[in-house]
Amino acid sequence: MILLTGGAGYIGSHMLLKLLESNHKVVVLDNLLNSSYESIKRVEALSNKQCIFVEGNIRDSECLNSIFNKYNIDAVLHFAGLKAVGESTEKPLLYFDNNISGSLQLLMSMQKYSVKKIVFSSSATVYGDPDELPISEECPMSMPTNPYGYTKMAVEQMLMQVVESDPTWSVATLRYFNPVGAHDSGMIGEDPNGTPNNLLPYIAQVAVGKRDKLFVYGNDYATYDGTGIRDYIHVMDLVEGHLSALDYIVNNLGYHVWNLGTGSGHSVLDMVKAFEKASNTNIPYQIVEKRAGDIASCYADATKAHQQLNWFAQRSIEDMMEDTWRWQSKNPDGYTN
Ligand code: NAD
Ligand code: WQD
Repeated sequence: MILLTGGAGYIGSHMLLKLLESNHKVVVLDNLLNSSYESIKRVEALSNKQCIFVEGNIRDSECLNSIFNKYNIDAVLHFAGLKAVGESTEKPLLYFDNNISGSLQLLMSMQKYSVKKIVFSSSATVYGDPDELPISEECPMSMPTNPYGYTKMAVEQMLMQVVESDPTWSVATLRYFNPVGAHDSGMIGEDPNGTPNNLLPYIAQVAVGKRDKLFVYGNDYATYDGTGIRDYIHVMDLVEGHLSALDYIVNNLGYHVWNLGTGSGHSVLDMVKAFEKASNTNIPYQIVEKRAGDIASCYADATKAHQQLNWFAQRSIEDMMEDTWRWQSKNPDGYTN
């Protein structure tokens, strides 16, 4: 049985679907802080399978212990966390408490119950502004410029040291590039609270008329059209990468890190054009000041995951846009309608 923390969230709900479709038994632990139980209901309807849902907090050791006590957990997929970069700069302690203390509680419960396999959701943000592109796992971590990024680096280091002290652990740290898109049913997708921080959800809300225009943060970066370049990866490719990583750590002890990206970069304006094409809408935009902390370009060298996990991202930018549009147009108010 798998414990999936954060399984009601954007990426976690797609992971849950993939796990249920692959015949895994799953316990989801989520406090619904940034998500809705509706996502779980929809995953169960789509897969025609059930999970065990526990509404609770990863910081709550009693809750964690009762899960490990009651269910025979083989491995943990750890997605629970707060992820808003801007909010983290205003409330660093909240982020340290939730993401670092929460992960620590989880690891302590795992150790108590001798569950020693974990897949952790990290982020390309741990590379900072890299010296070289594409970014391989060899690229050193650099001190993140915001508390959110710091929590990812801190948890990675905790995991590394746990494995160093006890080599019977198996840990997969997955560094995501920019996850976008939705399941192709249009039944589950990304449902941000308030104004979206990320590019694709913002564009999608402009397309359905919830926002007037997109603000493009800077057009004088040293890139082919002056706007920022990122490695956008379809959320279904991303969760398939987790299944491969899970298989790998079942058979290989130790600490492992993989980038999950496509290896290709796209600019903000590329994304606008691709979304317009997929949705047959017009996305008005205005160029504004750069956003603090943004870098010009970030894309993965994804060969390590290909070689070791036999995984690579298969879905195109067109797929990402069409699936985002299907989800957004069917659910203009996300899970609340
Ligand atoms: P999300 O906010 O949609 O999902 C996170 C889930 O965790 C939510 O359902 C939330 O309610 C839950 N949660 C938060 N704190 C919790 C706690 N203390 N106890 C129990 N549940 C808690 O975010 P997402 O986009 O699905 O991201 C999942 C993971 O991937 C996060 O760890 C995030 O940092 C990481 N990640 C996301 C991206 C991205 O761009 N979306 C990129 C890199 C890494
Ligand atoms: C992409 C590009 C913006 C919004 C963030 C986190 C990272 C990870 C993924 C969680 C950039 C531009 C954006 C807008 C814009 N998160 N943009 N107008 O910044 O690469 O990564 O999300 O783990 O840690 O930092 O993603 O989607 O915010 O931005 O012009 O309204 O779009 O400047 O070039 P980012 P993003």
